[in-house]
Amino acid sequence: MELKNKRIVLTGASSGIGKRLLEALLEEGAIVFAVSRTIETSLTLVHENLTVKNLDVSTYEGVDNLFEMAGAHLGSIDLFIANAGFTYYEILKSADKRHIDSILDTNTRSVIYSAVKMRELYHDQPFAFMATLSASSYLSMPGYALYSASKAALRGFFDSFELEFTRSDQQLLRVYPVATKTPFFTRAKQTHKPWPVQSPEHVVRTMIKGLKKDKKHIYPSKLFKWSYKLFPFFYRLYIAKERRTFLNIMKPPKDE
Ligand SMILES: NC(=O)c1ccc[n+]([C@@H]2O[C@H](COP(=O)([O-])OP(=O)(O)OC[C@H]3O[C@@H](n4cnc5c(N)ncnc54)[C@H](OP(=O)(O)O)[C@@H]3O)[C@@H](O)[C@H]2O)c1
Repeated sequence: MELKNKRIVLTGASSGIGKRLLEALLEEGAIVFAVSRTIETSLTLVHENLTVKNLDVSTYEGVDNLFEMAGAHLGSIDLFIANAGFTYYEILKSADKRHIDSILDTNTRSVIYSAVKMRELYHDQPFAFMATLSASSYLSMPGYALYSASKAALRGFFDSFELEFTRSDQQLLRVYPVATKTPFFTRAKQTHKPWPVQSPEHVVRTMIKGLKKDKKHIYPSKLFKWSYKLFPFFYRLYIAKERRTFLNIMKPPKDE
């Protein structure tokens, strides 16, 4: 997709990958409605094509407000980027119910709800929805049980949700960064440095490239991509068969 003059909603834009992505999108000439819980005070960037709003996307009401405000401001949304997310680094205990709810609310429920809302609102027109997942959605690491679950759930959701789409101009893009040098790990109170790490600038370059080339899956680390892509053939055949069966049974309407 061409990014110039595209009307974009970006969540988690105050820090790390989201902040770099915001700068890159503005450089490309996009018009951005950017949110996080603290962006109005923590972001110093000012730009004629940028509107920022403090907003918590971890609740359904928060997401509803976001669509309402962004819709009123932008007119229509061409691209929604669900980037807000966080992790805990911990050994899970039964007392961690609050952690389970909190991480699933922000990383998973909010993104799923936003994607479904986007499809409902713009069912008869082109749109794109991009979500920052993680290599952790494939590769589970100790200390990140809730995080891996939150991102793997998203991977399952998008892979299935996509099979229901019948228009080629409605796109779902997923990004799978490996460890990236942002405040993410200090916020999680991880004391040791992750390794290897990529720079957020590198991750954002691959995201912009992926958007321009309409890539469904964006892997900022090529090494990671290939090690998980060695035997895709049988998997693809199986999914294609399941998809045919699904479309036959459910007969989703074809919006032209
Ligand atoms: N860094 C990594 O190693 C890595 C690797 C793979 C994937 N990722 C994913 O990349 C995305 C960005 O992470 P990052 O590394 O850039 O971390 P980060 O620097 O901590 O940024 C996280 C962003 O999300 C916002 N946010 C968190 N909870 C929110 C909520 N409830 N409502 C609205 N905004 C919220 C934060 O702003 P406020 O605090 O102001 O709300 C911040 O702007 C996340 O989805 C993360 O899971 C990161």
